[in-house]
Amino acid sequence: MMRTSIYLSRFPAFFLCVAFPLYLAIRGSASLSDIALLCSSLSERAEALHIKLTSWLAASPAPISKTSLNPLAEPATGSPEGGIRKTYQPLPDGLAHCINSFEQYSLLAEQGLQRKHARYSRQNPAQKTISNKLGYPAHFEKTRKGIEVNARFSEKIALIGREDYHTGSRALEDREDAEFGLVDLAFGHLLRDWSSQGAGERKAVFPPILDRLDQHFDGNGRGNKVLVPGSGMGRLASDIADLGYDVTANELDYGSILAYHLLTNHTHSLHQHTLQPFVTKWAHQANPSSRYSPLTVPDHWPNKAVQLIEGDFLEVFPRDGEFDAVVTLFFIDMSDNVIDFLSNIHRLLKPGGVWINLGPLKWGSYSALHLSAEEVLQLAVLLGFDVDHTSRKSIDSLYAEQPETLLKFTYVTQFWSATKRG
Ligand SMILES: C[S@@+](CC[C@H](N)C(=O)[O-])C[C@H]1O[C@@H](n2cnc3c(N)ncnc32)[C@H](O)[C@@H]1O
Repeated sequence: MMRTSIYLSRFPAFFLCVAFPLYLAIRGSASLSDIALLCSSLSERAEALHIKLTSWLAASPAPISKTSLNPLAEPATGSPEGGIRKTYQPLPDGLAHCINSFEQYSLLAEQGLQRKHARYSRQNPAQKTISNKLGYPAHFEKTRKGIEVNARFSEKIALIGREDYHTGSRALEDREDAEFGLVDLAFGHLLRDWSSQGAGERKAVFPPILDRLDQHFDGNGRGNKVLVPGSGMGRLASDIADLGYDVTANELDYGSILAYHLLTNHTHSLHQHTLQPFVTKWAHQANPSSRYSPLTVPDHWPNKAVQLIEGDFLEVFPRDGEFDAVVTLFFIDMSDNVIDFLSNIHRLLKPGGVWINLGPLKWGSYSALHLSAEEVLQLAVLLGFDVDHTSRKSIDSLYAEQPETLLKFTYVTQFWSATKRG
């Protein structure tokens, strides 16, 4: 039965790679280079199809629910059948949504492209002729190829999610619950943290933090415990660890967590992964090629000594006074209530420990308090910090911007440090 199934699954591969291109060649409807292009893309797809079909034929395809995903089998206790009964643990919040989004990136991005194509097609014939003279249709093909490049990367991340959290190969519940924006955001964070193109953005905001740490610890980080909550893709945490500090990173978004796992644990050379994150961004482009600029990650090895704690910063650190320093970069305005975040930073610091902050005050509509920088510092004093007013400065910063974009969004970030009153 299995042999027949494998032959069956190979038939589409044969048809797609050999018979169909041959048919096109005989009909003469495509050039040889078109056919070569078609063959190479079809052979990749056929291989993927083959893998999918064989694994589908080998495994039960029934969809499973979020609560039955993590197959940590435990021996049944008092099972009437006396056998092994699996008890399953639920996946962490947001993980299924994240894996679905990475798995379906290609489909979601392609839908966006099709909408653009529909608008182009609705032009009248004269407009279309002019657009064609501009070479406009080539954008659709080039974008499609960029989406394929991104999809290969995105699918690797999804696979890591499935492997690390033991989801098996079957469809996750609510497969439709996938979001293009989640993947797009992850690409932006990768650009900023782990590509050469992000070096400019990092150079504006990392040095003030690293210098302040250096000043506080008299140039000797070794052995001092630093917490970086809301660590995103983890570059700042990694750079601090490179200086010899004992660094704990914390993040709750699985888009960042899984991409970080890919770079840290499943990457064997620098610049191994290629991305074209701007192919879906058609506005604010200076020239026809800028949106196709590729980037490669990682441009630097993530420091494996960093300990990444997954989950909500307010919930995952039970011990008081655990850290010598807490560093918040583009973080405190993510809180539902900034009093909770600052109180927690204060609780986690040792007496005399330092809190270093750099970031905007882009409070979300969900925030209970929309404080000004002055008010945040007054709050810090009320909660038991001594604010170092001489450290205060404003630093202009971009965040995850395409280097060549014609629209740049500058944050006037606020930098300060404060110590926990002893
Ligand atoms: C604007 S991003 C900044 C990421 C990183 N610090 C940087 O500068 O690139 C804010 C990050 O904080 C994370 N975050 C928000 N609330 C959090 C919480 N309660 N616990 C842990 N992480 C949180 C978000 O998932 C997001 O990755």
